[in-house]
Amino acid sequence: MISVVSRDESCTARVAAAVAAVVRPRDLIVLAGPMGAGKTAFTRGFAAALGVSRDEDVTSPTFTLVHEYRTGRVPVHHADLYRLRTLGEVADLGLRERADLGAVVIVEWGDVATGVLGDHLRIDIEPDEDDDDTRHLTVSVEGHSWDARWERLRTSVTGAAS
Ligand SMILES: Nc1ncnc2c1ncn2[C@@H]1O[C@H](COP(=O)(O)OP(=O)(O)O)[C@@H](O)[C@H]1O
Ligand SMILES: [Mg+2]
Repeated sequence: MISVVSRDESCTARVAAAVAAVVRPRDLIVLAGPMGAGKTAFTRGFAAALGVSRDEDVTSPTFTLVHEYRTGRVPVHHADLYRLRTLGEVADLGLRERADLGAVVIVEWGDVATGVLGDHLRIDIEPDEDDDDTRHLTVSVEGHSWDARWERLRTSVTGAAS
């Protein structure tokens, strides 16, 4: 596990860019944390670091369910599972399949459906109890696809937050 503290939104964006620096096609990233934690803010920094144009509006895909950003160095598919009620509905989005086809998939509220997502990197974003702008970010992994990159990820992420 990698734990860092973010003191403001730009720090969260830097951490997201640090993750993006180590990411590759077929990766799936789960974002967990309450409403307003910064999952979309993280995704914005992540997409920007992958070269997604500012013209592609990175917002929570609440109604369309999945946004696809095509202008970066790798296709980024951004999902938000908040409004989905069953694992069947999540499975229908084909998130693992999208990754397997070569995209990077990033999933807000993905922790509710880890069973149908396969191997993934997970970022937990917890608001601080005392400070409105502070977030506690924890990076963990499910599966083995990050084993060879883990120390590189740690160096990248801890450097970005310091
Ligand atoms: N350290 C921080 N990291 C991320 N967002 C922060 C931070 N501090 C304050 N914020 C604010 O918290 C809000 C996060 O909103 P958003 O990313 O939409 O959350 P979520 O997608 O998790 O519901 C934004 O208004 C952002 O400016
Ligand atoms: Mg959101």
